[in-house]
Amino acid sequence: MSEIIHVSVAWPYANGDLHVGHLAGAYLPADVFARYHRLKGNRVLMVSGSDSHGTPIMVTADKEGITPRDVFEKYHRRFLETQKNLGISYDLFTHTDTENHHQIAQDFFSMLLERKALYLDTQQILFDEQAGRFLPDRLVEGTCPVCGYADARGDQCDNHGGLLDALELINPRSKLTGSTPVVRETQHYFLDLARFKEALHEYLRDKDYWRPNVIHFARNMVDELRGRPITRDIDWGINVPLEGWEDKRLYVWFEAVMGYFTASIEWAKNSGQPEAWKDWWYNPDAKIYNFIGKDNIPFHTVIWQAELLGVSGIYDGDRPITLPYDVPANEFMNVQGAQFSKSRNWAIWLPDVLERYDPDAIRYYVASVMPETSDSEFTWQDFVARNNNELVAWWGNLVNRVLKFTYKNWDGMVPDPGTLRPMDTELLAKVHAGFEIVGSNLAEVKLRRALGEAMGLAREVNVYLDSAPWFGVIKQDKQTAATTVYTALQAITHLNTMLAPFLPFTAQQLFSMLGFEGQLFGEQRIETVSETSRDHEALIYDGAQAVGRWEPRELPVGQKLQEPAALFKKLDEDVIEEEMARLGQ
Ligand code: MF3
Repeated sequence: MSEIIHVSVAWPYANGDLHVGHLAGAYLPADVFARYHRLKGNRVLMVSGSDSHGTPIMVTADKEGITPRDVFEKYHRRFLETQKNLGISYDLFTHTDTENHHQIAQDFFSMLLERKALYLDTQQILFDEQAGRFLPDRLVEGTCPVCGYADARGDQCDNHGGLLDALELINPRSKLTGSTPVVRETQHYFLDLARFKEALHEYLRDKDYWRPNVIHFARNMVDELRGRPITRDIDWGINVPLEGWEDKRLYVWFEAVMGYFTASIEWAKNSGQPEAWKDWWYNPDAKIYNFIGKDNIPFHTVIWQAELLGVSGIYDGDRPITLPYDVPANEFMNVQGAQFSKSRNWAIWLPDVLERYDPDAIRYYVASVMPETSDSEFTWQDFVARNNNELVAWWGNLVNRVLKFTYKNWDGMVPDPGTLRPMDTELLAKVHAGFEIVGSNLAEVKLRRALGEAMGLAREVNVYLDSAPWFGVIKQDKQTAATTVYTALQAITHLNTMLAPFLPFTAQQLFSMLGFEGQLFGEQRIETVSETSRDHEALIYDGAQAVGRWEPRELPVGQKLQEPAALFKKLDEDVIEEEMARLGQ
C-alpha cells in the first residue's frame, strides 16, 4: 500500500544567502528522503519557503538602509535559484508574506483566542526613545550580569554562552541609536502552553523512535511549559487581527511554523485540487516529518504541536489534525574546525560553490558527512578526497569503464550474456538485496548509512570486475566477456536507482546513457503565483511524468546505449588551497 508522506522543511530566514549548514541541516536530508519515497511510489508533499518576517530581516534592512520587504524579496529570489540548482525538489517553496499565509495565520490566532488558548499579559520591554521603538532582545547590548562581558546581547552572552533577559543587562544600550533604553510596559498575547501539557505528553509517549536528543529535549520541555508571548511591538510581520492592535505584529516563530500547513494549502490551490491538502493534514495514516537543524527543536517538537492541537478541526469540522510523526533534527556542520559565522564570512556559501562544483559532487560530500548523530565538519581536504577517492573512483570510474567497453565492443548495445555463472548471480543477488537494505535506512532517515551501503555495493561491483574475466578475454572469448559486462551493467542500473535520491542529476544522465527513456524524477520550475494584491514566485516540482521506481529494473539485452560521457570530475589538489584562501575573506 502506498504511504502518505509530508516532508516539512525548516524555512530559512530570507536575510542572507544559503550556506552549507542549511543544506546539511535540513534541505539535503529532506530532499533525499522525499526522492526515495517518490521512487517507492508513495504520495509525497514536500514544502517550505522563505521566512520573511522577524527581527533578523529587520536588522538586515536597517543595516542596508532598505525595507524589510526589499531584503526578503532579494534573498527569496536567490533561494529559488540556489535550491533549484541543487535539485532540492520542493513540491512548493513559497514564502510567509503571501496573502494565503497571512490569512491562515490570522485564522489560527483567532481560533486560539476563541478557544481560550491565548491570554493577555503585561510585559516590561526596553524602549528606545530616540528611535521611538521597542527593542527586540537582539537589538540591545550591554554588560553581562553573569560574567561582566561588555558586549553581551539582550538574548544571550556570547562570552559565557548563557541565555539572558535584556532587562538584566548592566548599562544597556540600543543597537539602533546607541542611546540608553528605558523600560516600558506593553501588553501582549501569550500562548497558554501549559494547557496542552497532557496532550503533548500523550503525543510524545510513543515517540521513542525519535533521535534520542530530540525526544529527550521535547519531554523535558513539556515538563516545564509556561506561556509564551506570540505578539511583538514591531511593524514588520503579520497584523494581529484585532482592533486597537494595529501597532503590533504576530511573533515570527508563531506564524512561520504554520508555513508547513499554509504552504500545503497553497500547493493544493495552485494544483487545482483545493481540498488535497487534507490528505496529509486530516489523515491519521499520513506521516509528517519535520526536517530541521537542532537549534529549531523547541518550536518543532512542542510549540508547533501545541498550535496544531489548539486549532484542530480548522477548515474541516472536527477531525483531529495530523501531528508530526518524526522530527529528524540534524546537528551542525562546522567549517574547517570552526563554527559558521556570517560576520567573519566563515561559511561555504551555496550560490558561490555552485559556480565551481557540480551539484551532485556537493550533495555527495555533504550527505557522506551529514551531521545526523553529532556535529560534523566540512573541510576542503575531505571534499576533494571523497570526491576523488569515492565518488569518482568507486562509482564514476566503474560506470565509465563498463559503459565505454560495452559501447566499443558490442556496437553500443547491451550484449547477450548467455548463461550466468555463480559469480554473476551472487553479485546480482547482493545488489538486489540493496533495495531493501538501503531503502530501510532511507525510510528511517539514516541517510549517511544508506549512502554508505549503496557505495559499499559499488565497491563490490569493482571487486567483481577485478576477478571476473572481461578486459583480458575480449579478443579470444567474447562471450565470456559479454557475461561479465552484462552482469556489471545490470548492477550499475540498480545502483543508479539506489543512488538517485542522493545524486539526482547524474542518475538521470546515466539513466539516459543506459538507453532508458524518460525522467527518473519530475521537473523543477520557478513559477509565478498570483494572488489578489500581488504575485509571488515559487519553486515547484512536477512529478507527473516521472518513471523512476525503487526496484530492480531490467536492462534488456540489445538495448541501445548512448555514447558514454564522464559523470563526475576528478578535482585537482590545488582546489584545497584556493578554497581555503576564500574562507574568512
Ligand atoms: N527561520 C528559522 C531559522 O532560520 C527557521 C524557521 S522554521 C519554521 O532558524 F518552521 F518556523 F518556519
